[in-house]
Amino acid sequence: GETILVTGVASGIGARTAELAGQMGAEVIGVDVREPASGGAAFIKGDLSTASGVAEIVAQLPVRLDALANVAGLSGSTGISSTLAVNFYGLRALSEAVAPRLREGGAVVNVASIAGYGWRANIERAKSLAGIEGFPEVAAVVAEHGLKDEEGYPISKELLLLWTMRAAHQPLFKNRGIRVNAVSPGPVETPILKQFRAVLGDARVDSDITRVGRAGTSADIAPAVLFLCSDGARWINGANLAVDGGLEASINAEVL
Ligand code: NAI
Repeated sequence: GETILVTGVASGIGARTAELAGQMGAEVIGVDVREPASGGAAFIKGDLSTASGVAEIVAQLPVRLDALANVAGLSGSTGISSTLAVNFYGLRALSEAVAPRLREGGAVVNVASIAGYGWRANIERAKSLAGIEGFPEVAAVVAEHGLKDEEGYPISKELLLLWTMRAAHQPLFKNRGIRVNAVSPGPVETPILKQFRAVLGDARVDSDITRVGRAGTSADIAPAVLFLCSDGARWINGANLAVDGGLEASINAEVL
């Protein structure tokens, strides 16, 4: 069977993705900085916010994997440095380290966000921040670029969407047919949504939810992640799949 590595497995979308993958017959290896409530699947406790944390995770992985689902993320409420570290630099470091272990035709799926759609408007900043190779001293990057705390979450997802497109064409992935795609959820009922409410305000979150009738659930997102991991998505590469109940479409098409 297939072996899939899922980060952020202790909560929300990562937990549901792991559960569904298991139900579909895959072997799941979960990664999280926190212990999952329900045991069962193989679990590696590890911290994606530091280079050494990523290296410790990689050291415990099997030599062969079929897919990597990068789901772990922070809301920005812990500050911009940790947020950029987990949501982008740590995610990218893990993906680059895992790439040689992925089988030919394997897949990487990044859980981004509608919050990252400013990548094109902010392309110079995104190119500059994503152009930093390896796992930088993130606090120094933040200071050097004069980035503000409240920008941490959207910037992290802008970088992730830009990198998803670039990685799809990077020899490390492309030469062995490894596809790299993104899923961008709208508001989803998980613990992180409470933190978004605190950061963005209830009015902003509720207006997005009202626009599409309800908030998403983890069960709405997990199938899309696993589809992009699967061979059925073999001609999809560098793409971003909005899984948001139509939120982005309603904004782009100026509906409502
Ligand atoms: P969640 O808060 O329920 O789960 C996030 C998981 O990431 C937690 O289990 C947490 O322990 C883990 N994590 C945090 N820092 C870590 C670290 N340093 N190392 C390893 N694991 C770490 O949130 P949810 O909703 O499941 O979020 C999953 C992804 O979906 C995130 O990337 C988030 O940005 C994204 N997303 C969520 C939306 C929502 O409204 N829930 C909307 C758009 C995107």
